[in-house]
Amino acid sequence: MESMGETVTILAIESSCDETAAAVVKNGREVLSNVISSQIDLHALYGGVVPEIASRKHIEKINQVMEEALRSADRKLADLDAIAVTYGPGLVGPLLVGVSAAKAVSFASGIPLIGVHHIEGHISANYIENRELEPPFVCLVVSGGHSHLVVVKDYGEYEILGRTRDDAAGEAFDKVARAIGLGYPGGPKIDKVSREGNPEAVFFPRAKVGDSDYDFSFSGLKSAVLNYLNSCEMKGIAVNQADVAASFQKAVVDVLVEHSMHALSVCGMKKFAIAGGVASNTALRQALESACGEREIAFYHPSPILCTDNAAMIGAAAYYEYKKGVRHGYDLNAVPNLKLGQDMKSC
Ligand code: KG4
Ligand code: ZN
Repeated sequence: MESMGETVTILAIESSCDETAAAVVKNGREVLSNVISSQIDLHALYGGVVPEIASRKHIEKINQVMEEALRSADRKLADLDAIAVTYGPGLVGPLLVGVSAAKAVSFASGIPLIGVHHIEGHISANYIENRELEPPFVCLVVSGGHSHLVVVKDYGEYEILGRTRDDAAGEAFDKVARAIGLGYPGGPKIDKVSREGNPEAVFFPRAKVGDSDYDFSFSGLKSAVLNYLNSCEMKGIAVNQADVAASFQKAVVDVLVEHSMHALSVCGMKKFAIAGGVASNTALRQALESACGEREIAFYHPSPILCTDNAAMIGAAAYYEYKKGVRHGYDLNAVPNLKLGQDMKSC
């Protein structure tokens, strides 16, 4: 444990999917630099992330991104207390690039190594701009690969109330966007085009998962959109892209808001945060803002740039691990399906 008042400076690395990112974070909440090299344009050509291409691009960029993070934070390796890196969940090749780079720098410099859970990073993004936020709180994590309703009991202590049974929320956005001709990545495009559409134009189902109040299922909704598009085509009816986008988005938002509010009421918690790429969705933020407002629940959300993949969030999570004394050895490996916390049925 560091003594009171000591400054902890961490270089954090994130490469679990299609962003090569590095950041320098002070005491978990102050971002000194946040460098993100996105591969989105490259993968857009293929309509989604191609893991082999992602790995190769991470290798090309990782050193440059780490150097840039140190330079723009005006820090040297010698100023660092730890090197943190996402080691899962994610794509194995991309994860390995970050893990190997972190291990190499740590080994060469003698600076301690800390492996971080990617979802823990997303949740911790909330600490950066909300200095007063402390556990316990409920967090809705909605990204391209994950949809989780989590009780954050303490720093680094999570209990999973609900998760998706099939597609993640972001995955549903990406698949529906492709089906209505918006291209990749679908989330931001649906968000934008929905502003021109009528969310009540088409009714899509709000899926219930029989035995759970908290689990999600988005694949039925995706199929309902595809069926609607097919039936329009068969009947020769022109599809209004903005209306379909807005109606689909409303169906996702309604379910996310309902489950989150139910969790908050059952758990009796008054603090709620959102995290992950889909957390930057305008309609979701507005709906949650008003639902929380009605119930006098404090609502926390990171800026959009801290919602999608970045390394500042990894540095924030790593700080609390550092304080607990967590250090990893050079046998740290990428764990593509790394689990977060324990499952719980109810609060
Ligand atoms: O957290 P993230 O950057 O990567 C993962 O860990 O998966 O999330 C990426 C996902 C993609 O599916 C993307 O379409 C979605 O987040 N996304 C959005 C928005 N911005 C990104 N979905 C809805 N509305 C947005 N504004
Ligand atoms: Zn992510």
